[in-house]
Amino acid sequence: MTKRKEIIIPEKDYENQKVIIASIRDNNNIELQKNGLQKKMHIITYGCQQNTSDSEKLKGMLYEMGYVDTKVKSEADIILMNTCCVRENAELKIFGNLGALKKLKTENPNLIIGICGCMMQQEHIVKEIKQKYRFVDMVFGTHNLHKLPQLIQMATHEKYTLIDIMNSDGLIIEDIPTKREDKYRAWVTIMYGCNNFCSYCIVPYVRGRERSRNPQDVITEISDLAKEGCKEVTLLGQNVNSYGIDLNQNVDFADLIKMANNIEGIERIRFMTSHPKDISDKLIHTIKDCKKVCEQMHLPFQSGSNKILHAMNRKYTREEYLEKIKKVKNAIPGIALSTDIIVGFPGENEEDFNDTLDLVKEVEFDQAFTFIYSKRKGTPAEKMDNQVDDDIKHKNFEKLLEVQGHISREINESYLNKIVDVLVEGLSKSDKNRMTGRTRTGKVVNFNPGINEIKIGDLVNVKITEVFSWFLNGEIEI
Ligand code: 5AD
Ligand code: SF4
Repeated sequence: MTKRKEIIIPEKDYENQKVIIASIRDNNNIELQKNGLQKKMHIITYGCQQNTSDSEKLKGMLYEMGYVDTKVKSEADIILMNTCCVRENAELKIFGNLGALKKLKTENPNLIIGICGCMMQQEHIVKEIKQKYRFVDMVFGTHNLHKLPQLIQMATHEKYTLIDIMNSDGLIIEDIPTKREDKYRAWVTIMYGCNNFCSYCIVPYVRGRERSRNPQDVITEISDLAKEGCKEVTLLGQNVNSYGIDLNQNVDFADLIKMANNIEGIERIRFMTSHPKDISDKLIHTIKDCKKVCEQMHLPFQSGSNKILHAMNRKYTREEYLEKIKKVKNAIPGIALSTDIIVGFPGENEEDFNDTLDLVKEVEFDQAFTFIYSKRKGTPAEKMDNQVDDDIKHKNFEKLLEVQGHISREINESYLNKIVDVLVEGLSKSDKNRMTGRTRTGKVVNFNPGINEIKIGDLVNVKITEVFSWFLNGEIEI
């Protein structure tokens, strides 16, 4: 294999990328007409919804360049890995999967292998790729995925590893084409980055400071989606509650929700993630008043102990969190709450963990995403010397799962015999005679469509006949 070395790409604007897209498309079309060879892409996405949304843009650009999707890696002309670095186990898995691509590159030297996303914003990771994964053709970060066309163009000529990582994060590129996975439900990023610097979290270092999209751009995107038949949008950001602060346009997140609520064709609006410190009364009332906003909120609390919350730099206390929950529950009865919890943050003792368990029992979340604390290079928590024993972390993690499992099941019991509004997503994975969808509260419902002709994207009434901790079963109700 050719020895590769690093080359840094000079910054160019997106207009230039459009020209490159057209030129690659022309070449690919010629090849398709001459030899019947259709270029294929395979994109692997790790991590959160923001990454899913970014991958839809990578796909959009590749699609415009004349590539089609393939599920089979060995058929692909380009393989991209869009990475996540929030926890160490994600990184280890990604390195394992990247290593496995070497064989494909040896078999097909024309294959372009690219790795991008959050993990690439860390210097030590890029160094490791340069040293140990020399077959990789291109490495790029979170701030410059719009330069994919230029990278591909260069990768087809160069025998060097192209490294393009930007640390500046001022850029919001609006007109990147998007190829969405789902016609009826769409992710809409409203802001990028995070200013909160929770002491365990790598996100502010790899995604940069908060930048809000212009409200008009967001609303135009949602209106266009509605015209194409989209029914549900999820507004995305690391902390959507601070939307607009950087814009000086007198538009905050509540105002944006109101605008989205007026868009004809959109039936459901969701959003994530919210930081508890930024949930305002105005926002709670807006959610209550806007009929399209679903009765669901994801509000990570991370720890129930004030000592640990302080060490995490979360900027609220347990009591303040509970107060916000009370307000939300009072304003929006039946709201489904979900949360994120970290087990085993440095210094967490039994008493602290019990505070977390108590909070879980007191709030009664519909769902909790629980994570074992993972040391992240460059974060303040990495340097804390009272790291918790792995055994204790795992034992507490299991305990938390068990407690939450019971609570989820109990909440789901209250759905029994109720008729719920379900947006149909497709066939059930476990039983192809059944269909699946979600309630406004985000519950997965598998149901028997009977003799009715039900299509993906339909909104149907389903009577719940059976409940489990993680999903509900039901029958269609005409
Ligand atoms: N270790 C464990 N969990 C983490 N999260 C973020 N950083 C870490 C870390 N270092 C969790 C938080 C966050 C979710 C997206 O990931 O709970 O809300
Ligand atoms: Fe990470 Fe905290 Fe920002 Fe969430 S709010 S992305 S946990 S720093």
